Amino acid sequence: MKALVYQGPGQKDWIEKDKPTILKPTDVIVKITKTTICGTDLHILKGDVPAVTPGRTLGHEGVGIVEEVGAAVANFKPGDAVLISCVTSCGKCANCKRGLYSHCDDGGWILGHLIDGTQAEYVRIPHGDNSLYPIPEGADEEALVMLSDIMPTGFEIGVQYGRVKPGDTVAIVGAGPVGMSVLLTAQFYSPARIVMIDMDPARLALARQFGATDTIQVGSEDVVAKVMEMTGGLGVDVAIEAVGVPATFDTCQKIVSAGGSIANVGVHGKPVELHIEELWIKNINISMGLVNTNTTPMLLKTLGTGKVDPSKLVTHRFGLNEMLAAYEVFGNAAREKAMKVILSA
Ligand SMILES: NC(=O)c1ccc[n+]([C@@H]2O[C@H](COP(=O)([O-])OP(=O)(O)OC[C@H]3O[C@@H](n4cnc5c(N)ncnc54)[C@H](O)[C@@H]3O)[C@@H](O)[C@H]2O)c1
Ligand SMILES: [Zn+2]
Ligand SMILES: [Zn+2]
Repeated sequence: MKALVYQGPGQKDWIEKDKPTILKPTDVIVKITKTTICGTDLHILKGDVPAVTPGRTLGHEGVGIVEEVGAAVANFKPGDAVLISCVTSCGKCANCKRGLYSHCDDGGWILGHLIDGTQAEYVRIPHGDNSLYPIPEGADEEALVMLSDIMPTGFEIGVQYGRVKPGDTVAIVGAGPVGMSVLLTAQFYSPARIVMIDMDPARLALARQFGATDTIQVGSEDVVAKVMEMTGGLGVDVAIEAVGVPATFDTCQKIVSAGGSIANVGVHGKPVELHIEELWIKNINISMGLVNTNTTPMLLKTLGTGKVDPSKLVTHRFGLNEMLAAYEVFGNAAREKAMKVILSA
């Protein structure tokens, strides 16, 4: 089979690899029908995630058809259409029992990281019973791919941890696929205003189409001054960081109102300066974390009822064997006006 393989910093290849086989009775082999590329895959390719070693197949998102199941798999059989979660979980350990799947003793984010991932013709999913979801009849497969990672990430780590409430003013710093997923799922709670902040005017225009009430362009406007003007000097109820650099976390510290929340979603490679001398008196909450995907069943229901349509995040489509071309487009997202790419087998 063909797979997108990490070959060390800056190097990748679409090469022939052995098809995965059942290694444990709880494994499921899935034939990929649709997959995508995540910003995290670009981080890995830069060499920012040293746990990923050369030879690893990348990818942690996708949908497919069950090809083969291990003897202990109860919920799936060959031929079933499944959604692959970016987080693998046994469902049995202490952390899984409390819904903290990202810290499963025998899982967490391992796909396309510590084990071979979904940017391939076939993938082995450990603990298949708990790490796969049946695809509802008639569901839009492109929309479903957004439920592997970005939608639960935006909802759990941005909206839920940020405690978005009806009537709130919410600021989202970063209008990438994750920030856009925050934007879509924050609307479940009817905030009064959603302010999207990014330097890319094309992404800000898209954010307005997806429900942002206001946008601020970094570089051409003074973000903090603009937010303070919009909120009568109070700041925002919820400031959500969806980039992963010190400057954007700092913006969140400056725009959060008394009694508000900062929800950090971005993956950070460098320390940030915590302005506790300003913030201690403001009765705020700061949160952060790795997506658990414990809200995937709920998100599947909202998709089914049309409450949310993440398929609109898809801007480019490729065949699975056009993987390198898809990386070229996604890797130059601003130039290509790309948000999410879909690769179909
Ligand atoms: N916590 C989790 O479990 C989890 C899961 C998935 C992704 N992430 C992280 O979420 C973050 C966002 O992911 P993504 O795929 O949307 O990334 P992305 O790179 O596609 O988007 C980031 C956006 O931020 C904008 N940006 C860059 N610098 C900025 C600045 N100074 N001010 C305002 N905007 C700025 C860019 O223009 C871009 O639109 C990444 O750090 C990613 O690793 C976290
Ligand atoms: Zn991802
Ligand atoms: Zn577990």
